[in-house]
Amino acid sequence: MDLGIADRWAVICAASEGLGFSCAAALVAEGVNVVINARRPEPLKAAARRLQNINPAVSIKWVPGDITESQTQDTVLSASPMVDILVTNAAGPPTGNYSDWNRDIWYQAINTNMLTPISLIQIVIDEMVNRRFGRVINITSGTVKAPQSELGLSNGARGGLTGFICGLAKTDSLASNNVTINNLLPGAFDTNRLKQTFAQKASRCGDLPERIAMQRRQKIPAGRFGTPEEFGAYCAFLCSVYAGYITGQNILIDGGAYPGVF
Ligand SMILES: NC(=O)c1ccc[n+]([C@@H]2O[C@H](COP(=O)([O-])OP(=O)(O)OC[C@H]3O[C@@H](n4cnc5c(N)ncnc54)[C@H](OP(=O)(O)O)[C@@H]3O)[C@@H](O)[C@H]2O)c1
Repeated sequence: MDLGIADRWAVICAASEGLGFSCAAALVAEGVNVVINARRPEPLKAAARRLQNINPAVSIKWVPGDITESQTQDTVLSASPMVDILVTNAAGPPTGNYSDWNRDIWYQAINTNMLTPISLIQIVIDEMVNRRFGRVINITSGTVKAPQSELGLSNGARGGLTGFICGLAKTDSLASNNVTINNLLPGAFDTNRLKQTFAQKASRCGDLPERIAMQRRQKIPAGRFGTPEEFGAYCAFLCSVYAGYITGQNILIDGGAYPGVF
């Protein structure tokens, strides 16, 4: 299926590996030119090479830097001649216990997982409206719908982002000008982040990471963790010409793990 977005430009934040990289890979396969970002230059450069191998015909730019810093945000966005597609992403906050989280730790989580995507969107959204095409995807988390106590920092910061996006996406001038904003909510996907979460939980409970992983897998009806490629393919569809009527949604991709109806 041709998604109708060849020759568009996409900026994908936090994309040298994991879910961000898979979104970039799926877009590149569709003929989209991309700017990718991550903090460490060497893995980012290697990711750019892998993307170019997927599609030698597209332009790939890579801009290292911490996307939570406003200077990096400006540099990353201005590396793209235009921003038709924006995928916001950054590391999730650490797991822990509510009593350990002071104001500084809270501020860092809110800055990374709420204020950073909001700032990026604010910079690009008016131009998307002017050009009558825009797709914004925020990578958030399944815990927005089903919060877990040890992920309290994520629950709080991402909950704030979710509320803001729901209102923004329904702004008449956006939806009527073919500019959509959606949140993708990963359940358990087989990435380094997931492995780190298991390791942190294992050291807190005095257990083995492999046992924690097995227990988590057993709670997923699909019987496995998701692959980053599955996530990237969904992202590319939401960026497509066929997804112009989908906006303000929180789309859970979790192998059936969420227990509720809505
Ligand atoms: N995987 C899952 O099962 C899962 C489930 C729920 C939610 N999530 C959320 O989804 C997001 C992506 O997770 P993932 O599993 O893909 O993680 P990952 O495999 O650890 O990859 C994270 C990527 O983001 C980059 N990055 C992190 N912080 C950054 C920053 N401040 N500025 C720029 N680049 C940054 C990393 O490169 P550098 O380290 O070089 O910067 C790397 O490329 C996270 O917010 C995570 O909490 C994941």
